[in-house]
Amino acid sequence: MPICDPSSSSTGAGSTKLWIIHGVAVVAAAALALGAHYYMFYRRSGEFRSRVVGIIPARFASSRFEGKPLVNILGKPMIQRTWERAKMATSLDHIVVATDDEKIADCCRGFGADVVMTSDLCRNGTERCNEALSKLDKRYDVVVNIQGDEPLIEPEIIDGIVKALQAAPDAVFSTAVTSLKPEDARDPNRVKCVVDNHGYAIYFSRGLIPFNKSGNVNPQFPYLLHLGIQSYDTKFLNIYPELPPTPLQLEEDLEQLKVLENGYKMKIVPMQVIKVEHEAHGVEVPEDVDKIENYMRERNLH
Ligand SMILES: *[C@@H]1O[C@H](CO)[C@@H](O)[C@H](O)[C@H]1NC(C)=O
Ligand SMILES: *[C@@H]1O[C@H](CO)[C@@H](O)[C@H](O)[C@H]1NC(C)=O
Repeated sequence: MPICDPSSSSTGAGSTKLWIIHGVAVVAAAALALGAHYYMFYRRSGEFRSRVVGIIPARFASSRFEGKPLVNILGKPMIQRTWERAKMATSLDHIVVATDDEKIADCCRGFGADVVMTSDLCRNGTERCNEALSKLDKRYDVVVNIQGDEPLIEPEIIDGIVKALQAAPDAVFSTAVTSLKPEDARDPNRVKCVVDNHGYAIYFSRGLIPFNKSGNVNPQFPYLLHLGIQSYDTKFLNIYPELPPTPLQLEEDLEQLKVLENGYKMKIVPMQVIKVEHEAHGVEVPEDVDKIENYMRERNLH
């Protein structure tokens, strides 16, 4: 009998109603108890998204820099420096290099890294991470995508984005920002980010956001600079490369906008103390090698 059926006989309607109310109360109490149980369980044991893998995607062919992962930086291959930095993160259960190239694989095994061979059809690092993930024996909840060309990556940033994703069940993606220097405000290669009151991303842009009414850079405003590293819930990583491109993503040429345009939540981690200047981080072209070596010599980083 439908609960709201007005044609139902009046005899016994009162007791039926009582029964329904009682039933609803019991179900609600049970749901609350169950919810609380799971909440306590996750809190106590720290189980939520607890299994974390760091994947370093590395390909040999590159239009701008052939063999980039193996380039020598102060006596060590760049990929080894990245791997050694990632090893210092405390939140990773496992780190693997994902590559399509035997030379890279041999080199990495040589310094002790685990390697997963991936197809040379992977169109970008995210696809490579996803393929590598599917080839691992163990199951993971979170993947950190560690760019092989960031030999000075700070382990604190890796740990920061992992913890953020573990603490935000409604987010599927996390990434880091730091303060934008005023001189970088107009540089389209420095990606800016705005966040909501709870630390979720609202938007990313190559343009300056927010844009001050005066048209000038506001020296008082805490503009945020996006740092490339990202981590994902593994279930989301399975679908991320397959999501069709979106208008804002295509217009700005920023992959992460596809996540937001599809309505997923992204947690943003502000890194206050960046020991290594952002401009020294990435190695894009051969000339960057000199720059990063000089930077490391000046600061006595090895
Ligand atoms: C714009 O920037 C100026 C400082 O340059 C600041 O005083 C002002 O509050 C900002 N916002 C607007 C709407 O002008
Ligand atoms: C990677 O490549 C695929 C296929 O071209 C594309 O759909 C996707 O947006 C790219 N990037 C990411 C982050 O998935």
